[in-house]
Amino acid sequence: MGQFYIGLMSGTSLDGVDLAIVDFDTLKPTLISTHFTKYPNKLLTPLKNACRQSSIHFDELGRLDAELGVFYANCVQQALSNASLNSHDITAIGSHGQTIQHSPNSQPSYTLQIGDANRITQNTGISVVADFRRRDIAAGGQGAPLVPAFHQAIFQSSIENLAVVNIGGISNVTFLPANCSEAIIGFDCGPGNTLMDQWCQQYFDRPYDESGDLSRAGNVSTDLLNNLLRDPYFSQGYPKSTGPEYFNLNWLKNHLERNPTSTEDTLSTLCELTASCIAQSIQQLPSVNKTLICGGGVHNSHLQARLETLLNSPVTTTATYGVDPDIVEAMAFAWLAKQTIEGRTGNIPSVTGAKQTVVLGAIYSA
Ligand SMILES: Nc1ncnc2c1ncn2[C@@H]1O[C@H](COP(=O)(O)OP(=O)(O)O)[C@@H](O)[C@H]1O
Ligand SMILES: [Mg+2]
Repeated sequence: MGQFYIGLMSGTSLDGVDLAIVDFDTLKPTLISTHFTKYPNKLLTPLKNACRQSSIHFDELGRLDAELGVFYANCVQQALSNASLNSHDITAIGSHGQTIQHSPNSQPSYTLQIGDANRITQNTGISVVADFRRRDIAAGGQGAPLVPAFHQAIFQSSIENLAVVNIGGISNVTFLPANCSEAIIGFDCGPGNTLMDQWCQQYFDRPYDESGDLSRAGNVSTDLLNNLLRDPYFSQGYPKSTGPEYFNLNWLKNHLERNPTSTEDTLSTLCELTASCIAQSIQQLPSVNKTLICGGGVHNSHLQARLETLLNSPVTTTATYGVDPDIVEAMAFAWLAKQTIEGRTGNIPSVTGAKQTVVLGAIYSA
């Protein structure tokens, strides 16, 4: 039997929870099984409200935190049963939680993830590591992105400079230099799928733009695109991180008032915005030999094609490096849990801007 950890990742897309069971007793982490659970409407509706409103009642927050913890525990139990494993086979669970507010630039800065880890431990009998981001924030960092350390552990190559781009609700890039004495760079590029998703939900009654077909069919408004790209976030230097509390339909509305655009063309423009902010992020890195993408955005083939055109070089998914692009982030939180359980640090100060490396998260012992 190996050394199994579970990673639980629920990102800003609010699509659901990705779960990875990973064996770290091998030269490279080995994926044992994966499990995706969509958020049921009874959680999705209050979660959307919590994430998209600037205020929430304590009572609602308390209930949601508890219900989410129970839900995560159920996901773990279902995944264990599917994989014919039991709780004793798992060393620990790394649970990211659901971010309901990320404010790395407020004074004081803070970030808030919910999904009560006490309940996950209590209901599964497995130790849980959670609340990863706030220790980095306490050390003066952005608290994000945290996946670059895992990208380094599994993708860094001594032959080529790699850029790994995770396209979730928000998009983030990790630069892995071939020369391992050079610093790792990583930051949030800007919107990934979040604006496209919100637009599709509002105007097309669809959760997202399947394969990018709607975006492909419309025309990009150059005026709108250029205005959107003038937002100071895109030219700001790293470290930097962001979230849907910033890039949302209200943000877009202000620009649309100045550049009225049809519903169809707005979606095409939002897809181009995502491709552009990722391409610009990669172009400001030291020379990148290869770009790998992961996260749900890999299923938007129009977005991938636009990114390749803007970069003028091929873009491949992490599958070409043997890692399922849909599960990289969940694997990262299994890995981050292992780091914490072993007393190792998990943040990269050159990425988050923290004053020092720190052991991330809190341990809820079984
Ligand atoms: N078949 C698809 N076509 C286009 N986009 C997709 C498809 N499947 C997933 N996506 C996009 O991926 C998102 C989920 O990506 P994910 O990596 O889970 O993001 P997060 O980490 O923010 O939850 C969806 O909201 C959607 O925008
Ligand atoms: Mg997701």
